[in-house]
Amino acid sequence: MKRSIIISGGAGFIGSHVVRLFVNKYPDYRIVNLDKLTYAGNLANLKDIEDRPNYRFVKGDICDFESVLSLMREESVDGIIHLAAESHVDRSIKDPFTFARTNVLGTLSLLQAARLYWEGLPERYSGKLFYHISTDEVYGALEMTCPEGMEAPFTSGASSGSHHLAYGSEFFTEDRKYSPHSPYSASKASSDHFVRAFHDTYGMPVVVTNCSNNYGPYQFPEKLIPLFINNIVHRRSLPVYGRGENVRDWLYVEDHARAIDTIFHSGKVAETYNIGGFNEWKNIDVIRLLIRAVDRQLGRAEGADDDLVTFVTDRAGHDLRYAIDSRKLRSELGWEPSLQFEEGIERTVRWYLDNAAWMENVTSGDYLKYYEDMYKGR
Ligand code: NAD
Ligand code: DAU
Repeated sequence: MKRSIIISGGAGFIGSHVVRLFVNKYPDYRIVNLDKLTYAGNLANLKDIEDRPNYRFVKGDICDFESVLSLMREESVDGIIHLAAESHVDRSIKDPFTFARTNVLGTLSLLQAARLYWEGLPERYSGKLFYHISTDEVYGALEMTCPEGMEAPFTSGASSGSHHLAYGSEFFTEDRKYSPHSPYSASKASSDHFVRAFHDTYGMPVVVTNCSNNYGPYQFPEKLIPLFINNIVHRRSLPVYGRGENVRDWLYVEDHARAIDTIFHSGKVAETYNIGGFNEWKNIDVIRLLIRAVDRQLGRAEGADDDLVTFVTDRAGHDLRYAIDSRKLRSELGWEPSLQFEEGIERTVRWYLDNAAWMENVTSGDYLKYYEDMYKGR
């Protein structure tokens, strides 16, 4: 095998798209998916590639340092793409310890195992890479200086021709100071610092990317888009935090996976790349788009489900606006999003409607209790 790569968190939403892309595109790579299978991990996300000869699934916890180290030795690993994490902001507000354990200590455990293994080899760090997947949330929140939206100062091929608004004049660039507000983003910021410290202290070849909000197939229905699609289908209320004015920059998950592929192979060691959709939307506008798409695809009358929108108590510490400047990735490595947002939403809604069994499966068991606890009294 040309490369042997551990992809941590490969049974989750983004991880499963990365695993699928690498397994299909690189038959001469060994792809080892290391995942604990928490509530968010699901092997059904990878049914189509599970029997491939270049793929192996290992159920394991990234915090289990000894097991991680022996897996790296057993598989002669030369690359790590680290996605495993607790990823939902609302859960982090209720249970910050779990986020510190997985996101901070888990990342440190992977780093330390990679260091011990690679430093013991004759060629040491040559040909190795630790690629850490992070989030734009570490940068904090941007001002909304233009609530009605203005023409976005930079767009991509995919966003031009559609809604391409910016809600403020500032954007997250790679050199922006970290300012996390939620326990989730604080834990991701901490893990980013550990990754960079391993480069500066031990010379480990690392790369870090900070991406904006992803959407698409296989996303667990605790996040806005799949949760609301499912609620519209079942005509349940849509709990919009605050007034729905918060702005997120949405990127189709397969475009993120493509960016990861590009950066894994061509990114510069010790660099940071921001990944975004050039695609800012207010939550309430995304929600209106979702209602229209679901109703149209189900053959319901236009506007039939508009009254499901319910404004509820805001999320604590709710970041107002995220907007990524990903021009560095575009100019240095040639990556751009491929999919225009309305088309991505249509495709995503179609996928969830066509995969009702997947949705039923992940919303059975403990899910109902989660939903009641999360939204009780809001
Ligand atoms: P997810 O919650 O869907 O999946 C996380 C995966 O990690 C699951 O398969 C879970 O089982 C696994 N996992 C959790 N704890 C583990 C542990 N201790 N050991 C091994 N595996 C464990 O998350 P996602 O949305 O796919 O996000 C993946 C990564 O991308 C995360 O690091 C997240 O911070 C980052 N990210 C996500 C987004 C987004 O919009 N979803 C945007 C930017 C960055
Ligand atoms: O920006 C990248 C981040 O995007 C990732 O790092 C996180 O892992 C990912 O979860 C996501 O974080 P957000 O908090 O932005 O995503 P979420 O889908 O939870 O919420 C999107 C917006 O919708 C946010 O402004 C909160 C709002 N919202 C969310 C839910 C679940 C609601 O109004 N109601 C809801 O029920």
